[in-house]
Amino acid sequence: MSDITSTVTASPLAQVETPLLAVALTEGSALPPSLAELDRTSGGVLSRAVTSGDFKGKRDETVLLYPGGGKAQRILFVGMGKSGAVTRSSIRRAAAVGAKRARTLGTRQVAFAVVPEARNGVTAKDLGQVVAEGAAQGAWAFTELKATPEDPKPEVDSVVSVCDPKEAKDVASGQKIGDAVAAGHRLTRYLQMLPGNVCTPSYLADRAQQLATTYGFGLSVFDRAALEKEGMGALLAVAQGSQQEPRFIVIEYRGAGDAAPVVLAGKGVTFDSGGISIKPAHNMEDMKFDMSGAAAVLGTFEVLGRLKPKINVTGLIPSTENLPSGTAVKPGDVIKSHFGKTIEVINTDAEGRLILCDALSYARRFKPAAVLDAATLTGAVVVALGHVAIGVMGNDEALLAEVREAGERAGERCWPLPLWEEYRDLLKSEIADVKNSGGRGAGSIVGGWFLREFVDGFPWVHLDIAGTAYTEGEGPHQAKGPTAIGVRLFIEFILKRAGA
Ligand code: BES
Ligand code: MN
Ligand code: ZN
Repeated sequence: MSDITSTVTASPLAQVETPLLAVALTEGSALPPSLAELDRTSGGVLSRAVTSGDFKGKRDETVLLYPGGGKAQRILFVGMGKSGAVTRSSIRRAAAVGAKRARTLGTRQVAFAVVPEARNGVTAKDLGQVVAEGAAQGAWAFTELKATPEDPKPEVDSVVSVCDPKEAKDVASGQKIGDAVAAGHRLTRYLQMLPGNVCTPSYLADRAQQLATTYGFGLSVFDRAALEKEGMGALLAVAQGSQQEPRFIVIEYRGAGDAAPVVLAGKGVTFDSGGISIKPAHNMEDMKFDMSGAAAVLGTFEVLGRLKPKINVTGLIPSTENLPSGTAVKPGDVIKSHFGKTIEVINTDAEGRLILCDALSYARRFKPAAVLDAATLTGAVVVALGHVAIGVMGNDEALLAEVREAGERAGERCWPLPLWEEYRDLLKSEIADVKNSGGRGAGSIVGGWFLREFVDGFPWVHLDIAGTAYTEGEGPHQAKGPTAIGVRLFIEFILKRAGA
Protein backbone atom coordinates (compact mmCIF):
# COMPACT_ATOMS: atom_id res chain seq x y z
CA MET A 1 0.00 0.00 0.00
CA SER A 2 1.28 3.42 -0.86
CA ASP A 3 1.02 6.71 1.01
CA ILE A 4 -2.21 8.61 1.38
CA THR A 5 -1.87 12.35 0.83
CA SER A 6 -3.69 14.56 3.29
CA THR A 7 -4.89 17.98 2.31
CA VAL A 8 -7.10 20.67 3.80
CA THR A 9 -9.99 22.50 2.27
CA ALA A 10 -11.65 25.50 3.84
CA SER A 11 -14.61 25.44 1.45
CA PRO A 12 -18.07 25.20 2.99
CA LEU A 13 -19.32 21.58 3.09
CA ALA A 14 -21.86 22.22 0.34
CA GLN A 15 -19.05 23.33 -1.99
CA VAL A 16 -16.77 20.30 -1.57
CA GLU A 17 -16.51 18.30 -4.77
CA THR A 18 -15.77 14.71 -3.86
CA PRO A 19 -16.84 11.14 -4.62
CA LEU A 20 -17.39 10.62 -0.86
CA LEU A 21 -18.00 13.18 1.84
CA ALA A 22 -17.84 11.56 5.29
CA VAL A 23 -19.41 13.64 8.03
CA ALA A 24 -18.91 12.67 11.68
CA LEU A 25 -21.61 13.57 14.17
CA THR A 26 -22.87 12.60 17.59
CA GLU A 27 -26.18 11.19 18.82
CA GLY A 28 -29.22 13.45 18.52
CA SER A 29 -32.68 13.57 17.05
CA ALA A 30 -32.18 16.69 14.96
CA LEU A 31 -29.82 17.59 12.16
CA PRO A 32 -27.03 19.86 13.52
CA PRO A 33 -27.61 23.46 12.29
CA SER A 34 -24.16 23.49 10.64
CA LEU A 35 -25.46 20.91 8.13
CA ALA A 36 -28.50 22.96 7.05
CA GLU A 37 -26.89 24.33 3.88
CA LEU A 38 -25.52 20.93 2.80
CA ASP A 39 -28.93 19.42 3.50
CA ARG A 40 -30.56 22.03 1.27
CA THR A 41 -28.17 21.49 -1.66
CA SER A 42 -28.54 17.72 -1.22
CA GLY A 43 -32.31 17.79 -1.56
CA GLY A 44 -33.08 17.22 2.13
CA VAL A 45 -31.56 13.74 2.22
CA LEU A 46 -29.58 14.50 5.40
CA SER A 47 -32.51 15.68 7.50
CA ARG A 48 -34.59 12.73 6.31
CA ALA A 49 -31.90 10.30 7.47
CA VAL A 50 -31.94 11.86 10.93
CA THR A 51 -35.62 12.73 11.50
CA SER A 52 -36.74 9.32 10.25
CA GLY A 53 -34.72 7.89 13.14
CA ASP A 54 -32.74 5.72 10.69
CA PHE A 55 -29.44 7.32 11.70
CA LYS A 56 -28.97 7.81 15.42
CA GLY A 57 -25.29 8.72 15.58
CA LYS A 58 -24.17 5.78 17.71
CA ARG A 59 -20.46 4.91 17.68
CA ASP A 60 -19.46 3.30 14.34
CA GLU A 61 -22.99 3.65 12.97
CA THR A 62 -23.06 4.73 9.34
CA VAL A 63 -25.56 5.61 6.67
CA LEU A 64 -24.61 6.13 3.06
CA LEU A 65 -26.68 8.77 1.31
CA TYR A 66 -26.99 9.65 -2.36
CA PRO A 67 -27.81 13.36 -2.44
CA GLY A 68 -30.27 14.65 -5.02
CA GLY A 69 -27.97 17.47 -6.06
CA GLY A 70 -24.91 19.35 -4.82
CA LYS A 71 -21.21 18.72 -5.22
CA ALA A 72 -20.63 15.51 -3.26
CA GLN A 73 -21.53 12.31 -5.11
CA ARG A 74 -22.08 10.44 -1.85
CA ILE A 75 -22.44 11.51 1.74
CA LEU A 76 -21.59 9.12 4.57
CA PHE A 77 -22.77 9.91 8.06
CA VAL A 78 -20.51 8.39 10.71
CA GLY A 79 -21.65 8.22 14.32
CA MET A 80 -19.34 9.07 17.21
CA GLY A 81 -21.67 8.21 20.09
CA LYS A 82 -22.79 10.48 22.92
CA SER A 83 -22.40 14.20 22.40
CA GLY A 84 -20.07 15.78 24.93
CA ALA A 85 -17.88 12.66 25.04
CA VAL A 86 -15.96 13.16 21.80
CA THR A 87 -12.17 12.88 22.05
CA ARG A 88 -9.27 12.65 19.63
CA SER A 89 -9.88 8.91 19.62
CA SER A 90 -13.53 9.16 18.59
CA ILE A 91 -12.60 11.42 15.68
CA ARG A 92 -9.72 9.17 14.62
CA ARG A 93 -12.04 6.20 14.69
CA ALA A 94 -14.75 7.99 12.68
CA ALA A 95 -12.14 8.91 10.06
CA ALA A 96 -11.09 5.25 9.96
CA VAL A 97 -14.70 4.12 9.46
CA GLY A 98 -15.09 6.66 6.64
CA ALA A 99 -11.87 5.61 4.92
CA LYS A 100 -12.69 1.93 5.25
CA ARG A 101 -15.99 2.59 3.49
CA ALA A 102 -14.16 4.55 0.79
CA ARG A 103 -11.93 1.54 0.26
CA THR A 104 -14.88 -0.85 -0.16
CA LEU A 105 -16.71 1.58 -2.42
CA GLY A 106 -13.58 2.04 -4.48
CA THR A 107 -13.45 5.83 -4.32
CA ARG A 108 -9.88 7.07 -4.47
CA GLN A 109 -10.62 10.09 -2.38
CA VAL A 110 -12.53 10.72 0.81
CA ALA A 111 -13.36 14.12 2.26
CA PHE A 112 -13.91 14.17 6.00
CA ALA A 113 -15.55 16.66 8.30
CA VAL A 114 -16.55 16.72 11.96
CA VAL A 115 -19.63 18.86 12.56
CA PRO A 116 -18.60 21.77 14.81
CA GLU A 117 -21.43 20.96 17.23
CA ALA A 118 -19.69 17.62 18.01
CA ARG A 119 -16.03 18.79 18.26
CA ASN A 120 -15.99 19.00 22.06
CA GLY A 121 -12.87 21.14 22.24
CA VAL A 122 -10.55 18.92 20.19
CA THR A 123 -8.05 21.40 18.73
CA ALA A 124 -7.59 22.00 15.01
CA LYS A 125 -4.05 20.59 15.12
CA ASP A 126 -5.22 17.42 16.86
CA LEU A 127 -8.04 17.15 14.36
CA GLY A 128 -5.62 17.28 11.43
CA GLN A 129 -3.41 14.64 13.03
CA VAL A 130 -6.07 12.13 13.98
CA VAL A 131 -7.96 12.37 10.69
CA ALA A 132 -4.75 11.52 8.81
CA GLU A 133 -4.02 8.67 11.23
CA GLY A 134 -7.55 7.31 11.11
CA ALA A 135 -7.81 7.45 7.34
CA ALA A 136 -4.61 5.45 6.97
CA GLN A 137 -5.81 2.92 9.52
CA GLY A 138 -9.20 2.45 7.87
CA ALA A 139 -8.08 2.37 4.25
CA TRP A 140 -5.36 -0.20 4.82
CA ALA A 141 -5.50 -3.47 2.90
CA PHE A 142 -2.81 -6.03 2.23
CA THR A 143 -2.83 -7.26 -1.35
CA GLU A 144 0.90 -7.63 -1.95
CA LEU A 145 0.98 -11.43 -1.92
CA LYS A 146 -2.06 -12.08 -4.10
CA ALA A 147 -1.03 -12.99 -7.62
CA THR A 148 -4.59 -12.38 -8.82
CA PRO A 149 -6.73 -10.18 -6.55
CA GLU A 150 -10.40 -11.32 -6.74
CA ASP A 151 -12.12 -7.99 -6.52
CA PRO A 152 -9.55 -5.36 -7.41
CA LYS A 153 -10.45 -1.98 -5.92
CA PRO A 154 -8.31 1.12 -6.22
CA GLU A 155 -6.51 2.27 -3.12
CA VAL A 156 -7.66 5.36 -1.29
CA ASP A 157 -4.92 7.83 -2.12
CA SER A 158 -6.13 11.08 -0.65
CA VAL A 159 -8.02 12.35 2.35
CA VAL A 160 -9.27 15.91 2.51
CA SER A 161 -10.03 17.49 5.87
CA VAL A 162 -12.83 19.98 5.53
CA CYS A 163 -12.53 22.76 8.10
CA ASP A 164 -13.15 26.36 8.94
CA PRO A 165 -10.80 28.80 7.08
CA LYS A 166 -9.50 30.09 10.43
CA GLU A 167 -8.34 26.60 11.35
CA ALA A 168 -6.82 25.51 8.06
CA LYS A 169 -3.22 26.27 9.04
CA ASP A 170 -3.41 24.37 12.32
CA VAL A 171 -5.18 21.42 10.70
CA ALA A 172 -2.41 21.25 8.10
CA SER A 173 0.30 21.25 10.78
CA GLY A 174 -1.45 18.36 12.56
CA GLN A 175 -1.70 16.53 9.26
CA LYS A 176 2.09 16.56 8.93
CA ILE A 177 2.34 14.56 12.15
CA GLY A 178 -0.59 12.34 11.20
CA ASP A 179 0.89 11.57 7.77
CA ALA A 180 4.20 10.56 9.33
CA VAL A 181 2.44 8.36 11.88
CA ALA A 182 0.43 6.85 9.03
CA ALA A 183 3.64 5.93 7.21
CA GLY A 184 4.98 4.25 10.34
CA HIS A 185 1.68 2.45 10.78
CA ARG A 186 1.88 1.19 7.22
CA LEU A 187 5.41 -0.16 7.63
CA THR A 188 4.50 -1.87 10.90
CA ARG A 189 1.38 -3.52 9.53
CA TYR A 190 3.23 -4.64 6.43
CA LEU A 191 5.96 -6.29 8.49
CA GLN A 192 3.38 -7.87 10.80
CA MET A 193 1.42 -9.25 7.88
CA LEU A 194 4.37 -10.85 6.12
CA PRO A 195 4.50 -14.59 6.74
CA GLY A 196 7.25 -16.25 8.73
CA ASN A 197 8.97 -17.63 5.65
CA VAL A 198 9.48 -14.09 4.34
CA CYS A 199 9.80 -12.04 7.50
CA THR A 200 12.76 -13.76 9.16
CA PRO A 201 15.15 -12.22 11.69
CA SER A 202 17.56 -11.30 8.88
CA TYR A 203 14.68 -9.75 6.90
CA LEU A 204 13.88 -7.50 9.88
CA ALA A 205 17.55 -6.56 10.07
CA ASP A 206 17.53 -5.69 6.35
CA ARG A 207 14.51 -3.46 6.84
CA ALA A 208 16.23 -1.76 9.77
CA GLN A 209 19.23 -1.24 7.50
CA GLN A 210 16.98 0.38 4.87
CA LEU A 211 15.55 2.76 7.47
CA ALA A 212 19.04 3.58 8.70
CA THR A 213 20.20 4.37 5.15
CA THR A 214 17.14 6.45 4.31
CA TYR A 215 17.15 8.52 7.48
CA GLY A 216 20.74 8.39 8.68
CA PHE A 217 20.12 6.34 11.83
CA GLY A 218 22.94 4.54 13.61
CA LEU A 219 22.69 0.76 13.24
CA SER A 220 24.41 -2.35 14.55
CA VAL A 221 23.23 -5.85 13.83
CA PHE A 222 24.50 -8.85 15.79
CA ASP A 223 24.51 -12.27 14.14
CA ARG A 224 24.85 -15.60 15.97
CA ALA A 225 28.62 -15.31 16.34
CA ALA A 226 28.38 -11.73 17.64
CA LEU A 227 25.64 -12.76 20.08
CA GLU A 228 27.90 -15.47 21.45
CA LYS A 229 30.66 -12.92 21.98
CA GLU A 230 28.24 -10.54 23.67
CA GLY A 231 26.98 -13.33 25.95
CA MET A 232 23.33 -13.19 24.98
CA GLY A 233 22.67 -16.70 26.23
CA ALA A 234 18.90 -16.37 26.59
CA LEU A 235 18.32 -15.12 23.04
CA LEU A 236 20.71 -17.78 21.73
CA ALA A 237 18.88 -20.52 23.65
CA VAL A 238 15.62 -19.70 21.90
CA ALA A 239 17.37 -19.47 18.54
CA GLN A 240 19.25 -22.74 18.82
CA GLY A 241 16.34 -24.82 17.51
CA SER A 242 16.09 -22.92 14.24
CA GLN A 243 17.98 -22.93 10.95
CA GLN A 244 17.33 -19.22 10.65
CA GLU A 245 20.07 -17.13 12.22
CA PRO A 246 18.93 -14.86 15.05
CA ARG A 247 19.58 -11.13 14.95
CA PHE A 248 19.87 -8.46 17.59
CA ILE A 249 19.20 -5.06 16.05
CA VAL A 250 20.28 -1.77 17.61
CA ILE A 251 18.95 1.29 15.78
CA GLU A 252 19.66 4.82 16.98
CA TYR A 253 18.02 8.13 16.22
CA ARG A 254 19.77 11.22 17.52
CA GLY A 255 17.85 14.46 17.69
CA ALA A 256 19.19 15.85 20.95
CA GLY A 257 23.00 15.62 21.18
CA ASP A 258 24.15 13.64 24.17
CA ALA A 259 20.89 13.51 26.11
CA ALA A 260 19.94 10.17 27.68
CA PRO A 261 17.85 8.23 25.15
CA VAL A 262 14.42 6.72 25.39
CA VAL A 263 14.93 3.03 24.61
CA LEU A 264 12.20 1.09 22.80
CA ALA A 265 12.55 -2.70 22.85
CA GLY A 266 10.34 -4.93 20.72
CA LYS A 267 9.86 -8.69 20.79
CA GLY A 268 10.84 -10.02 17.38
CA VAL A 269 9.85 -13.70 17.31
CA THR A 270 9.19 -14.12 13.60
CA PHE A 271 7.37 -17.38 14.22
CA ASP A 272 6.46 -18.93 17.56
CA SER A 273 5.63 -22.62 17.34
CA GLY A 274 6.22 -22.95 21.08
CA GLY A 275 9.40 -24.96 20.48
CA ILE A 276 9.59 -28.34 22.24
CA SER A 277 6.62 -27.21 24.39
CA ILE A 278 4.81 -27.06 21.07
CA LYS A 279 1.55 -25.16 20.60
CA PRO A 280 -1.70 -26.74 19.33
CA ALA A 281 -2.14 -26.51 15.53
CA HIS A 282 -5.35 -24.43 15.72
CA ASN A 283 -4.54 -20.79 14.83
CA MET A 284 -0.83 -21.46 15.05
CA GLU A 285 -0.44 -19.51 11.80
CA ASP A 286 -1.22 -16.35 13.79
CA MET A 287 2.11 -16.78 15.52
CA LYS A 288 3.71 -15.00 12.56
CA PHE A 289 2.44 -11.92 14.45
CA ASP A 290 4.80 -12.67 17.32
CA MET A 291 7.16 -9.99 15.99
CA SER A 292 4.57 -7.24 16.40
CA GLY A 293 6.59 -5.47 19.11
CA ALA A 294 9.62 -5.38 16.80
CA ALA A 295 7.44 -4.11 13.95
CA ALA A 296 6.11 -1.31 16.18
CA VAL A 297 9.66 -0.23 17.00
CA LEU A 298 10.65 -0.12 13.32
CA GLY A 299 7.43 1.73 12.43
CA THR A 300 8.22 4.26 15.14
CA PHE A 301 11.63 4.84 13.56
CA GLU A 302 9.93 5.48 10.21
CA VAL A 303 7.96 8.25 11.99
CA LEU A 304 11.08 9.60 13.74
CA GLY A 305 12.91 9.79 10.42
CA ARG A 306 10.11 11.90 8.97
CA LEU A 307 9.42 14.16 11.96
CA LYS A 308 12.92 14.50 13.44
CA PRO A 309 11.88 15.51 16.98
CA LYS A 310 14.45 16.88 19.44
CA ILE A 311 15.08 13.73 21.45
CA ASN A 312 17.29 10.64 21.30
CA VAL A 313 15.66 7.27 20.76
CA THR A 314 17.30 3.84 20.62
CA GLY A 315 15.48 0.78 19.32
CA LEU A 316 16.45 -2.73 20.45
CA ILE A 317 15.09 -5.74 18.61
CA PRO A 318 15.97 -9.27 19.65
CA SER A 319 14.76 -11.50 16.83
CA THR A 320 14.56 -15.25 16.30
CA GLU A 321 12.22 -18.06 15.41
CA ASN A 322 11.01 -20.44 18.11
CA LEU A 323 11.02 -23.95 16.63
CA PRO A 324 11.40 -27.51 17.87
CA SER A 325 14.29 -29.58 16.54
CA GLY A 326 17.08 -31.87 17.67
CA THR A 327 19.09 -28.82 18.69
CA ALA A 328 16.27 -26.92 20.37
CA VAL A 329 16.34 -25.82 24.00
CA LYS A 330 14.43 -28.27 26.21
CA PRO A 331 12.26 -27.98 29.31
CA GLY A 332 14.58 -28.29 32.30
CA ASP A 333 17.58 -26.77 30.55
CA VAL A 334 19.42 -24.08 32.48
CA ILE A 335 20.80 -21.20 30.47
CA LYS A 336 22.84 -18.12 31.29
CA SER A 337 21.47 -14.70 30.40
CA HIS A 338 23.35 -11.59 29.29
CA PHE A 339 22.60 -10.07 32.71
CA GLY A 340 24.40 -12.97 34.37
CA LYS A 341 21.39 -14.60 36.04
CA THR A 342 20.75 -18.25 35.25
CA ILE A 343 17.33 -19.31 33.99
CA GLU A 344 15.63 -22.67 34.24
CA VAL A 345 13.56 -23.13 31.10
CA ILE A 346 10.32 -24.71 32.32
CA ASN A 347 8.36 -24.02 29.16
CA THR A 348 10.04 -23.32 25.82
CA ASP A 349 6.89 -21.46 24.77
CA ALA A 350 7.71 -18.72 27.27
CA GLU A 351 10.40 -17.56 24.83
CA GLY A 352 9.52 -13.88 24.51
CA ARG A 353 10.72 -13.09 28.01
CA LEU A 354 13.96 -14.93 27.28
CA ILE A 355 14.87 -12.85 24.27
CA LEU A 356 13.68 -9.61 25.89
CA CYS A 357 15.60 -10.13 29.11
CA ASP A 358 18.84 -9.99 27.14
CA ALA A 359 17.67 -6.81 25.39
CA LEU A 360 16.75 -5.17 28.72
CA SER A 361 20.12 -6.15 30.10
CA TYR A 362 21.86 -4.67 27.05
CA ALA A 363 19.84 -1.44 27.47
CA ARG A 364 21.84 -0.56 30.61
CA ARG A 365 24.77 0.64 28.56
CA PHE A 366 22.74 3.54 27.15
CA LYS A 367 21.96 4.90 30.64
CA PRO A 368 18.42 5.37 29.32
CA ALA A 369 16.02 8.05 30.48
CA ALA A 370 13.28 5.44 30.14
CA VAL A 371 12.85 1.99 28.60
CA LEU A 372 9.56 0.84 27.09
CA ASP A 373 9.19 -2.67 25.77
CA ALA A 374 6.36 -3.97 23.60
CA ALA A 375 5.77 -7.69 23.31
CA THR A 376 3.10 -10.19 22.36
CA LEU A 377 4.11 -11.89 25.57
CA THR A 378 1.20 -13.81 27.06
CA GLY A 379 -2.08 -15.42 26.05
CA ALA A 380 -3.16 -14.54 29.59
CA VAL A 381 -3.41 -10.84 28.74
CA VAL A 382 -6.16 -11.75 26.27
CA VAL A 383 -8.01 -13.48 29.09
CA ALA A 384 -7.58 -10.45 31.37
CA LEU A 385 -8.26 -7.57 28.97
CA GLY A 386 -9.52 -9.10 25.74
CA HIS A 387 -8.64 -7.29 22.54
CA VAL A 388 -9.35 -3.84 23.94
CA ALA A 389 -6.40 -2.82 26.08
CA ILE A 390 -2.66 -3.29 26.42
CA GLY A 391 -1.58 -4.83 29.73
CA VAL A 392 0.93 -2.46 31.27
CA MET A 393 3.45 -3.08 34.07
CA GLY A 394 6.58 -1.34 35.27
CA ASN A 395 8.89 -0.26 38.06
CA ASP A 396 8.15 3.47 38.10
CA GLU A 397 4.75 5.01 38.82
CA ALA A 398 5.51 8.31 37.11
CA LEU A 399 6.58 6.57 33.91
CA LEU A 400 3.56 4.28 34.06
CA ALA A 401 1.29 7.31 34.27
CA GLU A 402 3.12 8.99 31.38
CA VAL A 403 2.77 5.89 29.20
CA ARG A 404 -0.90 5.45 30.04
CA GLU A 405 -1.55 9.06 29.17
CA ALA A 406 0.27 8.65 25.83
CA GLY A 407 -1.86 5.56 25.19
CA GLU A 408 -5.01 7.54 25.88
CA ARG A 409 -4.02 10.24 23.37
CA ALA A 410 -3.02 7.57 20.87
CA GLY A 411 -6.23 5.58 21.15
CA GLU A 412 -4.08 2.64 22.34
CA ARG A 413 -5.31 2.23 25.86
CA CYS A 414 -3.27 0.59 28.60
CA TRP A 415 -4.54 -1.00 31.79
CA PRO A 416 -2.18 -1.67 34.72
CA LEU A 417 -1.47 -5.06 36.26
CA PRO A 418 0.29 -5.12 39.64
CA LEU A 419 3.86 -6.29 40.08
CA TRP A 420 3.43 -7.05 43.78
CA GLU A 421 6.20 -8.88 45.62
CA GLU A 422 4.05 -11.97 46.22
CA TYR A 423 3.97 -12.71 42.50
CA ARG A 424 7.76 -12.84 42.38
CA ASP A 425 7.63 -16.10 44.35
CA LEU A 426 6.09 -17.86 41.35
CA LEU A 427 9.43 -17.57 39.54
CA LYS A 428 11.57 -19.27 42.19
CA SER A 429 13.61 -22.13 40.75
CA GLU A 430 15.23 -24.93 42.71
CA ILE A 431 18.18 -25.10 40.38
CA ALA A 432 18.68 -21.63 38.84
CA ASP A 433 18.22 -17.96 39.76
CA VAL A 434 14.79 -17.83 38.13
CA LYS A 435 12.52 -20.02 36.03
CA ASN A 436 10.78 -18.79 32.92
CA SER A 437 7.25 -19.87 33.73
CA GLY A 438 5.23 -19.81 36.91
CA GLY A 439 2.36 -22.11 36.06
CA ARG A 440 -1.24 -21.19 35.43
CA GLY A 441 -2.13 -18.18 37.57
CA ALA A 442 -1.33 -14.52 36.90
CA GLY A 443 0.35 -15.34 33.58
CA SER A 444 0.86 -11.77 32.36
CA ILE A 445 2.12 -10.52 35.71
CA VAL A 446 4.60 -13.38 35.96
CA GLY A 447 5.85 -12.48 32.47
CA GLY A 448 6.25 -8.89 33.64
CA TRP A 449 8.01 -9.96 36.83
CA PHE A 450 10.41 -12.12 34.88
CA LEU A 451 11.43 -9.12 32.77
CA ARG A 452 11.77 -6.96 35.88
CA GLU A 453 14.43 -9.35 37.15
CA PHE A 454 16.64 -8.06 34.34
CA VAL A 455 15.91 -4.35 34.71
CA ASP A 456 18.60 -2.52 36.57
CA GLY A 457 18.94 1.19 37.15
CA PHE A 458 16.35 2.74 34.83
CA PRO A 459 12.63 3.46 34.77
CA TRP A 460 10.92 0.78 32.73
CA VAL A 461 7.47 -0.06 31.41
CA HIS A 462 6.39 -3.30 29.77
CA LEU A 463 3.49 -3.37 27.31
CA ASP A 464 1.89 -6.77 26.79
CA ILE A 465 0.29 -6.39 23.36
CA ALA A 466 -0.71 -10.03 22.76
CA GLY A 467 -4.42 -9.09 22.76
CA THR A 468 -4.14 -5.93 20.69
CA ALA A 469 -1.46 -6.57 18.05
CA TYR A 470 -3.84 -8.21 15.60
CA THR A 471 -7.53 -8.93 15.25
CA GLU A 472 -9.15 -12.20 14.27
CA GLY A 473 -12.05 -10.50 12.54
CA GLU A 474 -12.88 -7.37 10.65
CA GLY A 475 -13.95 -4.26 12.57
CA PRO A 476 -15.90 -1.22 11.32
CA HIS A 477 -12.71 0.85 11.46
CA GLN A 478 -10.08 -1.61 10.35
CA ALA A 479 -9.47 -4.72 8.31
CA LYS A 480 -8.82 -8.09 9.93
CA GLY A 481 -5.23 -8.71 10.91
CA PRO A 482 -2.42 -6.47 12.11
CA THR A 483 -3.18 -3.25 14.01
CA ALA A 484 0.30 -1.66 14.33
CA ILE A 485 -0.43 -1.22 18.03
CA GLY A 486 2.37 0.62 19.79
CA VAL A 487 3.39 2.98 17.00
CA ARG A 488 0.99 5.74 17.95
CA LEU A 489 1.59 5.27 21.68
CA PHE A 490 5.37 5.42 21.24
CA ILE A 491 5.11 8.52 19.09
CA GLU A 492 2.75 10.33 21.46
CA PHE A 493 5.13 9.51 24.30
CA ILE A 494 8.18 10.67 22.37
CA LEU A 495 6.67 13.87 20.97
CA LYS A 496 5.46 14.93 24.40
CA ARG A 497 8.92 14.30 25.87
CA ALA A 498 10.53 16.18 23.00
CA GLY A 499 8.23 19.10 23.74
CA ALA A 500 6.87 18.97 20.20
N1 BES B 1 3.63 -15.51 21.70
C1 BES B 1 3.01 -16.14 22.81
C2 BES B 1 1.89 -15.30 23.43
C3 BES B 1 0.67 -15.08 22.58
C4 BES B 1 -0.45 -15.87 22.75
C5 BES B 1 0.60 -14.05 21.67
C6 BES B 1 -1.59 -15.64 22.01
C7 BES B 1 -0.53 -13.81 20.93
C8 BES B 1 -1.63 -14.61 21.11
C9 BES B 1 4.04 -16.37 23.90
O1 BES B 1 5.33 -16.64 23.47
C10 BES B 1 3.61 -17.57 24.67
O2 BES B 1 3.54 -18.62 24.09
N2 BES B 1 3.32 -17.39 25.96
C11 BES B 1 2.90 -18.47 26.78
C12 BES B 1 3.59 -18.33 28.12
C13 BES B 1 3.42 -19.51 29.02
C14 BES B 1 4.07 -20.74 28.42
C15 BES B 1 4.02 -19.19 30.36
C16 BES B 1 1.37 -18.39 26.93
O3 BES B 1 0.84 -17.29 26.97
O4 BES B 1 0.75 -19.43 26.95
MN1 MN C 1 5.60 -18.67 23.01
ZN1 ZN D 1 5.83 -15.84 21.67
